[in-house]
Amino acid sequence: MDLNSKLLDFIEHSPTAFHAAANIAAALTANGYHELLETEVWTVSPGDRVFIRRNGSSIIALRIPERPPVGFLLAAAHADSPSLRLKETAPLPPLDSYIRLNVEKYGGMLCAPWLDRPLSIAGRVAVRGGRGVELRLVDLVRPVALIPNLAIHMDRSANEGKSYEAHVDMLPLFSQAGGRSLDALLAESLGVREEDILSRELQLYPFGRGMLWGADEEFLSAPRLDDLQGVYGCLEGFLAAEGSASLTGLCVFDNEEVGNGTRQGADSTFLSDVLRRVCFALGMDESAYLRCVANSFLLSADNAHAVHPNHSEHADRADRPVLNGGVVLKYNANRHYTTDSVSAALFSELCGRIGVPVQRYTNRADIRGGWTLGHVSLSHVSLDTADIGLPQLAMHSCYETAGAKDTQYLVRVVRELFSRTLRKTPEGFSLL
Ligand code: CO
Repeated sequence: MDLNSKLLDFIEHSPTAFHAAANIAAALTANGYHELLETEVWTVSPGDRVFIRRNGSSIIALRIPERPPVGFLLAAAHADSPSLRLKETAPLPPLDSYIRLNVEKYGGMLCAPWLDRPLSIAGRVAVRGGRGVELRLVDLVRPVALIPNLAIHMDRSANEGKSYEAHVDMLPLFSQAGGRSLDALLAESLGVREEDILSRELQLYPFGRGMLWGADEEFLSAPRLDDLQGVYGCLEGFLAAEGSASLTGLCVFDNEEVGNGTRQGADSTFLSDVLRRVCFALGMDESAYLRCVANSFLLSADNAHAVHPNHSEHADRADRPVLNGGVVLKYNANRHYTTDSVSAALFSELCGRIGVPVQRYTNRADIRGGWTLGHVSLSHVSLDTADIGLPQLAMHSCYETAGAKDTQYLVRVVRELFSRTLRKTPEGFSLL
């Protein structure tokens, strides 16, 4: 199967960060990685391949070199996306026979694309089991909800700019009075009794698979490209790499879209806890760990804004990434992006060696742009970091668009990074 088909498969089967982490864990296991549990003592040997999960929604995979590591080479991306989350009291009482789902917004979502689109439900459910409470992933894998637009005849100004009130406009229609309950559908899907469902963390997702399109199938559209395209590109590159004397790692975090501040987010101790514990399990001490931190590099991969075909005025005058133009290096004077001359040179060198094109992104000087997970993880592990991403359109829509050629550029540069060894010197650095 080609890379884009595999990417679309991964996205289709990863409706939530829980599912993405489970799919990554399965791919790692198939490639000889074994899981370390945070609640257990870790035994690690040179040459081992391991992964660690926190909350079932963030995951870090590490490849330990044959000799004591000379530093860390890491790539990070995020598995969550803006969406509608179901409140615990999701089904509302009937109104004119209609049962609607009670929801709230997760992250900075574009609301309009969610309307008139078949939606399904996925997430994590806590179930009373024989040996205590069991956490189970659920995906209904069929359309069960839809948020209908109001007809133009009932709102003649609908095309003159519309605001969306989550409390009113974004409630999905789910069933009619007397129909099956949400818990009944969850119980059936999980093979448990309805009364054994203790709690739920559920979200809506647009039902259906992404696709390639365009005169030459040069475009790729799917839900959650931000940042599952980054996650998948980093995963493929990580698995394909060989031969680094650095400890190489893939870090996939949940909760980037809501500020990273959860116990499994990039602004938690997850990464530093994992790196420290692995180093100590290898017999290194705090000083050896800190020497590795000082000789390290992090590639923070989160999708970037391509120039919009109808609204190019929102782009900078010179830094104008396009779809299929290669990986984007992101800069910001106020350091919302971490890229500086050191990390930019390192990344450009990597790309140059293997012929991967590099584009540059800066915000228009009068527009305040986004943040990424790169800079927040730095408060826990201080690494040289480059903020990069694949160019895309319609970021935070529930159906986003990217270039069909760009995923392989990310895979190649991540593979190249993880096949090298970084040596920093007072004068600069070398990538061997
Ligand atoms: Co993102």
